[in-house]
Amino acid sequence: MKWWQNAVIYQVYPRSFQDSNGDGIGDIPGIISRLDYLKYLGVDAIWLSPVYDSPNDDNGYDISDYQAIHPDFGTMEDMDRLIDEAAERGIRIVMDLVVNHTSDEHQWFVESRKSKTNEYRDFYIWRDPVDGGPPNDMEAAFGGSAWEYDEETEQYYLHLFSKKQPDLNWENENVRQSVYDMMNYWLDKGIGGFRMDVIDLIGKLPDEKITSNGPKLHDYLQELHEATLKGRDVMTVGETWGVTPEAAKLYSDPERHELSMVFQFEHIQLDEKSNQSKWDIKEIDFVEWKEVLTKWQIELKDNGWNSLFWNNHDLPRVVSRYGNDSEYRVESAKLFAILLHLMKGTPYIFQGEEIGMTNRTIESIDEVDDIESINMYNERLDEGYTHEELIHVINVKGRDNARTPMQWDDSDQAGFTTGTPWLPVQPNYKEINVEASRDSSDSIFNTYRQLIQLRKHNPLVVWGDYELLLPDHPSVYAYKRSYKGKTWLIVANVSGKVEHLVSNITNSVGDVIVSNYDKESFDPKQSVLQPYEAIVVELLD
Ligand code: GLC
Ligand code: CA
Repeated sequence: MKWWQNAVIYQVYPRSFQDSNGDGIGDIPGIISRLDYLKYLGVDAIWLSPVYDSPNDDNGYDISDYQAIHPDFGTMEDMDRLIDEAAERGIRIVMDLVVNHTSDEHQWFVESRKSKTNEYRDFYIWRDPVDGGPPNDMEAAFGGSAWEYDEETEQYYLHLFSKKQPDLNWENENVRQSVYDMMNYWLDKGIGGFRMDVIDLIGKLPDEKITSNGPKLHDYLQELHEATLKGRDVMTVGETWGVTPEAAKLYSDPERHELSMVFQFEHIQLDEKSNQSKWDIKEIDFVEWKEVLTKWQIELKDNGWNSLFWNNHDLPRVVSRYGNDSEYRVESAKLFAILLHLMKGTPYIFQGEEIGMTNRTIESIDEVDDIESINMYNERLDEGYTHEELIHVINVKGRDNARTPMQWDDSDQAGFTTGTPWLPVQPNYKEINVEASRDSSDSIFNTYRQLIQLRKHNPLVVWGDYELLLPDHPSVYAYKRSYKGKTWLIVANVSGKVEHLVSNITNSVGDVIVSNYDKESFDPKQSVLQPYEAIVVELLD
């Protein structure tokens, strides 16, 4: 068994976690000061969103120096101390690896754009104009053409994200070697592994308009493994938006020596109209949602490994997106925690999820920080969408939703900073904060703690087979996990209405293992489920 197979990972978005010097921006000393909290929660590793030097066009996902810490976050000494102090508490640091692209202020790009013969020219993807315009009609994820014209050498460079994020040319062996050297620098510091940003794009063939899953993608990853990960006890998780279960097995089958696991987003994308963008939203079909989650559980059961998550720094908060963040905030937050943490795979908690933090609501585009939302708003306003429609969809799906400062206590600025936070603290911090949750036994926080311990102490949670029950039920999600003759039943009413559940399960049941309504017993054959009720019991003979 690998350490990450019964682990729970906690994502820290450093700008918003804990400020230590009053400049309104979270930093590494701030994270260090909260390690005891994370230890108490019980997590095994922190996935740290980028802390590298960066002009912050995309909040650190545009890196100008992979081996330097952004002064906003601290120094390399702070980083080394974070790794050590986390290790003392049994927590590993998983670094964000953003190597599909760099910042345009990275030294490699500064050189590359100087001349066609510069030794770094081929570190990036340059093409001649076609008919006086861009080489083709590829679009950038943050709006507009994926090609940017550079006057200096009269060629276009490729950027699949913002124009300040030029794509690296992975076909160039020197690029690959430089990336491996940089990874080894970090691995030698004793980090716990990497979360690999949009890694499915590195095999792109722009002339053929192929972006994800290019023909050499897996060759590159095997080469990367050989050059960096081999023989080290680390975990890797690839961010792969367009992955199928078949492809996920290619990445995560241990025999193939690529990655430990990938993030798949199929369940997340069920709220998007097909073949449109993340902003073209539709109602989620609950039965289909269960089907998709089930498909991933079944498909990766033997060779491969799942990552389990509801939200991250790019996605809305789970309790607001899928639950009910007003009347049933506590119940629904616990329900989604229970559903996820009883599945097979490695669960991820995004900071603040463990206290049921909610989405941010804005009224004006001036309140938005995120480049993705701002670009989309301006583009679509020109195309004739109304202000109301656009603000609505930003409130539903925008990335700032998850990026507001962590709510630690009910003091000014929620204990996040003594200064002015870079993004406002949510007005509900007086009620929703760590201090209020940590010591209350029936809090969301304590449900998370309990779920983490269940995984630690029950091989069934880690290894058990998964089976979906009542697949067509329009609001109940029920599944079984079985391992070595033991079976647990997980039942959740994912709705704000009382449900009368009838099933053909005739087993007697053992004690309640977890629940969010303090139930002492449960009859799976016939029972009443309260709004957002979730319960786990053992099925006996
Ligand atoms: C990933 C990151 C996101 C970033 C993008 C470009 O999707 O999670 O925050 O904007 O890659 O690096
Ligand atoms: Ca700071």
